[in-house]
Amino acid sequence: MLQKIKKNLDVIVYVILPLILLTITIFFPEYSLFKQYGELAWQLLILVLFIKPIILILGVKQLMPLLTFRREIGIATFWFAIFHAGNMIYNLKMYQLKDYLGWNNFVFWGALAIIAYLIVSATSNNLAMRKLKRNWKKIQSLSYFIFSAVLIHIALIEKEEAWGFIALFLAYWILKILEWKKFKLSNFVLQFINKDEKTNQNS
Ligand code: HEM
Repeated sequence: MLQKIKKNLDVIVYVILPLILLTITIFFPEYSLFKQYGELAWQLLILVLFIKPIILILGVKQLMPLLTFRREIGIATFWFAIFHAGNMIYNLKMYQLKDYLGWNNFVFWGALAIIAYLIVSATSNNLAMRKLKRNWKKIQSLSYFIFSAVLIHIALIEKEEAWGFIALFLAYWILKILEWKKFKLSNFVLQFINKDEKTNQNS
């Protein structure tokens, strides 16, 4: 059943979604829409990166099947990011290298994120997994760089909300460290309950 859903989702994210975005771009070239593509790409990116540590740390088995669709969610974020960036470049006529230079230039970080997105998405398939072997995981970990670069891209636009972005960045890395240390909230709670029961028995 999950494999059937995954197959259908593959057709949607690899074929139908880019065709829809292309059609909208041609017939409804709205600047506000292209900005929203950026928002959607960012929100889906947060979902695809936070879903694994949260599910593994919470240890809620019922949510595990959601991890099956991470690749499809990842490809969807890629298309929204590409159509956002492409239309912004076209609308704002950003055709010169100088438009992209400078550490405090938000476009610089957006462009870095798009380059990393192209590498990660081009290798988000079974063939690349087989061919690249151990290097595949290393390439996919570029997703962490994409998260950081997009976060800086947006934080440089919305400077007044910089603290919120710093908190999100820290929250992600705390979750990742807990995930890598195989921390499970259920085990922690159980340990706590057992300890409590022992204290009560001794008292
Ligand atoms: C070459 C790459 C990119 C370019 C040229 C670009 C360009 C822009 C521009 C010009 C804006 C400001 C829009 C405005 O306020 O009028 C913007 C905002 C935004 N971009 Fe990008 N962008 C790029 C890559 C990305 C990527 C990869 C993502 C996400 C995955 C992204 C997400 C966003 C978001 C969420 C905003 C909205 C910030 C807000 O709420 O004001 N951008 N981008």
